[in-house]
Amino acid sequence: MPVPELDQLAASGAPPLDATTADPDGAFEKLWRGYGPVAPVELAPGVHAWLVMGYDELRTITRDEHLFSRDGRRWRLFQDGTVPPDSPLGPMMFFRDNVIGHDGEEHRRLRRPLQEAIAGVDHRRLRRTVERLCTGLIAQVAPRGTADLVADYAAAVPLLTIGELIGLDAAQSAELLAAMHLLFSSGEQAQEGNARFEALLGGLLAAKSAAPGPDVTSALLRHPDLRSDAEVLQTLVVLVSAGNHTLISWIAQALRLTLTDPRFASRVRGGRLSVDDALDEVLARQPPMINMPARYALADVELGGRRVARGDALILGLAAASRDTRAHTPGWWTHGNRASLAWSAGPHACPARDPARTIARTAVGAAGHLLRDMRVTEDPDAIGNEPSPWTRIPRRLPVAFTPASIDPVLV
Ligand code: HEM
Repeated sequence: MPVPELDQLAASGAPPLDATTADPDGAFEKLWRGYGPVAPVELAPGVHAWLVMGYDELRTITRDEHLFSRDGRRWRLFQDGTVPPDSPLGPMMFFRDNVIGHDGEEHRRLRRPLQEAIAGVDHRRLRRTVERLCTGLIAQVAPRGTADLVADYAAAVPLLTIGELIGLDAAQSAELLAAMHLLFSSGEQAQEGNARFEALLGGLLAAKSAAPGPDVTSALLRHPDLRSDAEVLQTLVVLVSAGNHTLISWIAQALRLTLTDPRFASRVRGGRLSVDDALDEVLARQPPMINMPARYALADVELGGRRVARGDALILGLAAASRDTRAHTPGWWTHGNRASLAWSAGPHACPARDPARTIARTAVGAAGHLLRDMRVTEDPDAIGNEPSPWTRIPRRLPVAFTPASIDPVLV
C-alpha cells in the first residue's frame, strides 16, 4: 500500500499547529507559501492532520458529508492508537455522541431540538438580559476607573447569559467557566476540565427533570427528538461549549478593535459605522474560531492539489480562509459583506448566529455606552492571545476611563 501523502510530508517535518503558535496569521501565510491551500500540520508530537485554508476547499469539506465525516471514530490515527484515549486533543477531536459527532439523518435529528430552542429565543428579552448582566459587571469596575475588559467583562458575559438561558444560577455558571478554560486549553488538564464540565451539566439536568422551568434545558427535556437524558446532556454540553469561547473572542476583539484602530474608533464614534459593522469586520478578519476541528476523509480524494487519504483528519482553517486572495479582494469585508466562513458552512454550520449577534452587539454597545472616555493603557499588539490552537482570545485588554458610580439595576 502506498504511503499516504500526509505521512510522507510529515516525515520531512510538518509545522506545529499548537497552543504555542505566537503569530497564527504569519504561520498561515508561511504554510500557504510552502504547501498551497491544504497543508500538513502537527497537532501534537507525531499527530498530523491537514489544515484546509482555501475558501473553496473549506466549502467542499463542510458541505460534502458523504466524503468528509464529522465522526471522530473515522480518524485513522485514533483507530490505530497513534492518538491515545487520554490525549489532550481528545475533547476537541474525538467522537462525541452529540450533534457535532454525527452525520446525515442522525445529525439532523439531534440538530432539530437545538434549532427549535434557538428559534424560540426572544431577542428583545435576550437583549434586556444581556444589558442587565453587562450593567452589573460594569458597575463593579466603574468606580475604579480601570479594568481588564477581557477578564472583568468579555470572559463573563457569554457564560452568564447562556447560563440564564439554560437555567443555571450565577455561582454554577462561574464554576462551569473554570472547567471550560481547562477544556479549551488542549493542555494537560483538558480531560479534567471535560469531566468537571459534564458533571455540572448533569446536575442541572437532574434539577430540571425534577422541577421544570421556563428555560432551554426544560424545553430540551420535553423535545420528542431527544430520546434520553444522555442526549439532552450532550446537547447542553454542545450549547455551552460552542457558545462560550467563541463569544468571548468576538466581544473582546470587537472591543479591542474599536478602542485601538484609530480609523475604526473614529468611525464608530462618529456614528458612521455601527457596532454590527465592527462585529462583521472582526468576524471576517479575526474569526473567533481560528481553526475548527475536524472532518475525517471517508475515501481517498484529491483536495487543493493534495492527496487526502481515507481516515486523514482535516482541520477547518477558518482564519486562514479569510486571507484566501483567490476568493477575496483586499478589504472584502467592508460594505456589509458577510461572506466570511467564521460560522463555517454546510449541515454543521453554526445554528446560533442570531442570538450570538444579539449578545455580542449588546455587550460591545453597553461597554462603550457606560464607560466614558475609555482608552487602552497597554499596547494590545504586545499583549498577545491566550494559548490555544483553536480560538483567538486576547490575554487581556487593560483600559482606563472616567470613574463613575453606576447603579447595577438601571439599564
Ligand atoms: C462568535 C460567536 C460564534 C461563532 C463564531 C461560532 C462558530 C461556529 C462554527 C464555526 C461552527 C461550525 C462547526 C463545524 O462546521 O464543524 C459552530 C457550530 C455550532 N455552534 Fe457556534 N459559534 C458562535 C456562537 C455560538 C453560540 C452563542 C452558540 C449557542 C449558544 C453556538 C452553538 C453552536 C452549535 C450547537 C454548533 C454545532 C452545530 C452542528 O454541529 O450542527 N455557537 N459554531
